Amino acid sequence: MSLEDPDKSATSVEVDALAASEFSLAEGLVYLNHAAVAPWPQRTAHAVAAFARENADVGARHYPRWLQKEQELRSQAAKLLNASGEDIAFIKNTSEGLSIVAYGFPWRSGDNVVVPRDEFPSNRIVWQSLAARGVETREVDLSGAQDPEAVLVAGMDRRTRLLAVSSVQFATGLRMDLARLGEMCRARDVAFCVDAIQGLGALPHDVTAMNIDFLAADAHKWLLGPEGIALFYCRPEWRDQLAMYEFGWHMVEDISDFERRDWVPAKSARRFEPGSPNMIGIHALSASLSLLTQIGMQIIERRVLERSQHLFDRLDALPLIELITPTARGRYGGIVTFRAPQVDAGALFAALQARDVVCAQRAGGIRFSPHFYTPLSALDEAVDRTRDAIRAVQAKTATR
Ligand SMILES: Cc1ncc(COP(=O)(O)O)c(C=O)c1O
Repeated sequence: MSLEDPDKSATSVEVDALAASEFSLAEGLVYLNHAAVAPWPQRTAHAVAAFARENADVGARHYPRWLQKEQELRSQAAKLLNASGEDIAFIKNTSEGLSIVAYGFPWRSGDNVVVPRDEFPSNRIVWQSLAARGVETREVDLSGAQDPEAVLVAGMDRRTRLLAVSSVQFATGLRMDLARLGEMCRARDVAFCVDAIQGLGALPHDVTAMNIDFLAADAHKWLLGPEGIALFYCRPEWRDQLAMYEFGWHMVEDISDFERRDWVPAKSARRFEPGSPNMIGIHALSASLSLLTQIGMQIIERRVLERSQHLFDRLDALPLIELITPTARGRYGGIVTFRAPQVDAGALFAALQARDVVCAQRAGGIRFSPHFYTPLSALDEAVDRTRDAIRAVQAKTATR
């Protein structure tokens, strides 16, 4: 049963109850690091424990059941992205997905790819590595841009073949308007590649409506799954145009006949899965996605944004704090980054760690990233501990 319901108040109560039953973080810990690695829901922990038990007891005796779970996950991922299961591959991580695109894409020498300047290294290095093939990487500075989509498009020229962008920037938390970018790319015949790891699971990603050609996202952040399994979407029109560079028994059309000498790549996106699947990751991610789809992405997005707004309001009220994340509607997702300019960021980060606030040091400041289930009281607690941490760092500096 989906909890998605237009009646907001009734739904909030139900979601709060479900969240409380699914997340049982250690007492005193304030976990604001979903943009790094997320804690697992109970159902995911149980799925992994059950899979481990089964392996210990009977090995792969029930492998056909595992294959059913793999199919189930493909359907869940397809629903999440508004794609077909045929368009989705399970790969190792986001970086691998970006590499499949970069090294399969039909480049011609002199082409270029446009990326925002402050992308996570995985969404920069792979494009820069194409320089040897005559492909230029154009890094576009989005800092302070009022209209980042227009700035990215202004960085294109007639040799631009692909735009690679994160849904949400990992450090500043800037959220891109993917639907608008998709439209702009389509109008210019530029392929649109989305690194969705900082958005998928927190915000809706409709690859069809957003005209996304390629998308990759690992499970361990907003999808609430484990590291080492990622979703890769490839628009069907592109499938045959991407050259392949990983081969094995699992990526051929006829997967069951090991005697057969001739082979062709699978028609579906399974062609990007060369060997044995990550079955434990599949069991885990399927459980995590079942929670997200049970609640529904509209509700999750609303709650994620509510939490960011709550942090904006509370942090803004603290003296000495400057928000780095843009606060305009539509410009942020689940990441809230701030700095205390008069305090050393490293010292503040250490003081927060010491106070059991799990967060990250990014963009010269501190990054908080709660998820839909994080209680608002935990955010208030984090802000209180931040105020204490700032005072403690200042006191230490003054006595030096
Ligand atoms: C925007 C972005 N892309 C890619 C990655 C790396 O993802 P993976 O380890 O799945 O390759 C991260 C990790 O923090 C990230 O924030």
